[in-house]
Formats: sequence, C-alpha cells, structure tokens
Amino acid sequence: MTEKKYNAVITGVGGYVPDYVMTNQELAQKVETSDEWINTRIGIKERHILKIENEGTSYMGERAVKQLLEKTNTDPSEIDMLICGIVTPDMQFPATANIISDKTGIKNAFGFDLNAGCSSFLYALNAASKYVESGTHKKVVVVGADKMSSITDYTDRATCPIFGDGAGAVLLEPTEDKNYGLIDTTMQVDGSGRKHLHQVAGGSQKPASFQTVLNREHFIYQEGQPVFKAAVSKMADVSVDMMKKHNIAADELDWFVPHQANMRIIEATAKRMGISKDIVMINIHKYGNTTSATIPLLLLEWEDKIKKGDKLIIATFGAGFAWGSTYMRWGY
Ligand code: UT7
Repeated sequence: MTEKKYNAVITGVGGYVPDYVMTNQELAQKVETSDEWINTRIGIKERHILKIENEGTSYMGERAVKQLLEKTNTDPSEIDMLICGIVTPDMQFPATANIISDKTGIKNAFGFDLNAGCSSFLYALNAASKYVESGTHKKVVVVGADKMSSITDYTDRATCPIFGDGAGAVLLEPTEDKNYGLIDTTMQVDGSGRKHLHQVAGGSQKPASFQTVLNREHFIYQEGQPVFKAAVSKMADVSVDMMKKHNIAADELDWFVPHQANMRIIEATAKRMGISKDIVMINIHKYGNTTSATIPLLLLEWEDKIKKGDKLIIATFGAGFAWGSTYMRWGY
C-alpha cells in the first residue's frame, strides 16, 4: 500500500442541543416507568428535545456548523465538502447535508448524507478522511445530527426513555505531520441484525399509508436484548483489537469515546478494554442517545481537557447492525 500523503486531523468542534429538557419524571407521566428504572437500566436522567414546529434535524445541524465555523474562524466559502451522518433527515430527499450547507452559507462544496445508524458520524468521519488524505479536499465539515424525537413512540416505554435530539460537527483538515489525526479505523456491518432494530414503514418497501400510521410503524422498532448483547461484544471487540494492533496499553490510552446508547454497554466495553473510568467520556445522563450526535457532542464537551497528541479511541454500534472503531491522535 502506498504511504498516504496527509493525515486527516480534527481542527475544531461545534455542537447544539435544543433548550427543552425532557426529564424521566415527564416520561413517567406518559408511560408506565420510573426515574429509578431508567437510571439503573439505561443511565439517563434527561434528554433534550427539539419542540419547534416544522423544524427538523437541519435546524440543529445548522447551529452546530455555525458554531464550528465561528470557533475555527473559517469562512463558509472555504469549506469544500460537508458530509452529514444522520438517521432522521429533514425529508427523504434532498440530503440534509445540502440543507445544512445552504443554511450556513457553504456554497463551494459538495456533500451527502450517510446513514449507518448510531455509527453514522464515525462512518462519515472516515469517509471524509479519505478525501482529506488524498489531498483533493482541504476543509471538510462532518456533521452528526438527529432529531430522534421525530421517530420515537412516546407510548412505548421500552424505547421512549432512550433517545434525545442534538447535533455536533467537526472540521477535518490535512496535516503532513503523521503524529496527529486519524490513524486507523475498523468498520463492519451485519445486515442480518436489521430485524432487531429498524423503522418498519416509510421507505420504498412499505410506503406510508393510513394503515402504517395507525399501526405506529413509523417509529423506532427495537428488540432491546439482542441489540444490547451485540453492542457490548462488538464495541468491545473492535476497541480491544485496536489497542492491540497499535500496542496501546490500558494506561497509555488518554480517552475512550464510546457511543452513548446505554450506560451498562459503556461500562462493559470499558471493562473489557481494562481502562479506568476516568478516561471514558460520558454524557448519556443528560442527553440520552442522540444517535449520530453522541460522538461530536462528547468531543465538544471534553475539548478543553483533551491535549495535543492525546490518544483517543472512538467506538460505535447501532442499527444495521453497523459498528466500528477509530484510533486518532488529537491535533490541537
Ligand atoms: O444506539 C442504538 C442501539 N441501541 C442500543 O444499544 C440499545 C440496547 N438495549 C438496551 O439498552 C436495553 O435492552 C433496553 C434499555 C432497551 C432495555 O433494558 P433491558 O434491561 O434489556 O430490559 P428488558 O427489555 O429485558 O426488560 C426488562 C423488564 C421487562 O419487564 P418484565 O417482562 O421483566 O416484566 C420490561 O417490560 O423491564 C420492563 N421495561 C420497563 N420497565 C419500566 C421495559 N422498559 C421499561 C421502562 N420502565 N421504561
């Protein structure tokens, strides 16, 4: 394999969560549940919900990208690509990436949406990195955004406590210094897992009809247990393999950045990696599972603590099944 000319490195992070906070107590008024059950079984206390009528995921993506551009002192005209990792696009078409680009004044770019369930942001980050590494694209925005409340059934106690809304975005740029940026990635899908986690209707297989609405088939369908088991084993496998491949001992890793689906999944994965809880980024208690937004929102919250050169492993698992892990060294 020829040596790549550049590494793709994250040079800034932005994010946005809506103001409205939905507590466990509020959910307990909608379905038969309790703050205690949600806390102990999932690890969530509250989540943010986008309540503004006629506003979709792009509303949050726009705000995350605007913050990113401002923080990195980047003019929208400099951006040459924007990829949006997303499960809940504003509409089936066109791509929400196009809508976000339009709303943020990004006019010299091309882009697309990428849907890999809860792994969407990680997959988008790695897709974007290939353009940056090849030298064809110099300033690439990668967004991870979802309005999960738009497909959450607030009469189903097995799924409604889990999800929240939010958006995050990173800027990816080339560097010739191979000590920084994305070093390695593993990504894997197993489509047979789709039976455990999907949206029944609204696609070409089962278009929307009165009946699909009556049957509540436009909401998330999830069988929690098989998803839980697969998430623990796959996220741990790829993370442990990544550590071994790069000779990273447990005490040499600076940060573990896991997808935020369930506190017990995060803890089990960290345990298998043998790492201290102190280096595990966690915000599930206040945001829930924001699907594509979990990873950039974590990076944003920890941005002040991460140091240049720090070793990070990101790991995700979600619908598809689609999972993966990325090893990177922080660049600023
Ligand atoms: O990011 C996308 C990928 N998704 C995931 O990673 C999610 C993975 N799965 C999970 O996180 C967990 O399986 C859930 C949080 C979805 C469910 O937790 P669990 O510990 O697997 O519970 P369970 O489905 O086995 O249900 C245990 C009991 C059941 O009652 P019985 O049958 O034992 O009487 C459920 O009916 O808990 C009941 N239950 C609830 N009770 C109170 C289910 N949801 C609730 C609830 N409040 N909200």
